[in-house]
Amino acid sequence: MSMRTQGLVLGPSSSSPIQNPKTPTFLTPPTYFSSAKRVWLKSNYSFSSHSILLASTNLRHRNCVVKTEHKVVSDIEEDNLKSKVRRKNLAVFVSGGGSNFRSIFEATLNGSVHGDIFVLVTNKYDCGGAEYARVKGIPVILFPKNKDAIEGLSTEDLIVALRSYKVDFILLAGFLKLIPTELVRAYPKSILNIHPSLLPAFGGKGYYGMKVHKAVIASGARYSGATIHYVDEHYDTGRILAQRVVPVLADDTAEELAARVLHEEHKLYVEVVAALCEERIIWREDGVPLIQSKENSNDYR
Ligand code: GRF
Repeated sequence: MSMRTQGLVLGPSSSSPIQNPKTPTFLTPPTYFSSAKRVWLKSNYSFSSHSILLASTNLRHRNCVVKTEHKVVSDIEEDNLKSKVRRKNLAVFVSGGGSNFRSIFEATLNGSVHGDIFVLVTNKYDCGGAEYARVKGIPVILFPKNKDAIEGLSTEDLIVALRSYKVDFILLAGFLKLIPTELVRAYPKSILNIHPSLLPAFGGKGYYGMKVHKAVIASGARYSGATIHYVDEHYDTGRILAQRVVPVLADDTAEELAARVLHEEHKLYVEVVAALCEERIIWREDGVPLIQSKENSNDYR
């Protein structure tokens, strides 16, 4: 078995840039998907084991202590609130290990994100993120076209593919290629990136991976962190949506700082994607995006 066909679940031909599609037809969105915790009957309807469990718990506890009943009712209210908002279709772009992709994927399964990852896009066929997607049965698209033997999609074809999956939002999670203008224009205010520094510091072309953390330490900055921002035609210059701060310790190595930042990235990206899928992003008059708090609708961050 060649490297290209290894791990494919339903791959069409080994030369297709779309690996592991949910349906054998090129560019057709998936109509069913199953995992240990969740079964999709159609792309827009899903039942989680969690909600089934809550329903039966509610019946069993109908005449029990108020405290228990309140908890169950408030969980159900939250489910009802979410069900008024359509579940979103997500695409994640990766070039590396894909730990952010994994944490978002897990959050879609455990109910903390009101959306589903329909497709993974990568420029590196055998990166950790792509391998993980194949194991989980998520279609993998190679993008862009490159000089290697492995062919990727053109930007035009990628947009057609994303449309066919009815993708609402694109999440860059360690994708090292610049997003072409046509794609930025095709998905206005719908593409997010995560960067491992407090932008606008230590961002831009050349600031990726350990280079970011080495530069932070060398600068003497006492704080670093993660930034999630909207994507424009340049590296790391789009509107900032959320940030999380971590300390830089006196004896930090770049690896130690990277691990501290990455730990926060996983939590921050899930929180932001949850807000995105629940339509809690509000644009201030001057163009700054804010996140509306889940607990208090008058609170924006
Ligand atoms: C993260 O540090 C992210 O901020 C940056 O690339 C890294 C990706 O890590 N854009 P992973 O592939 O999600 O583990």
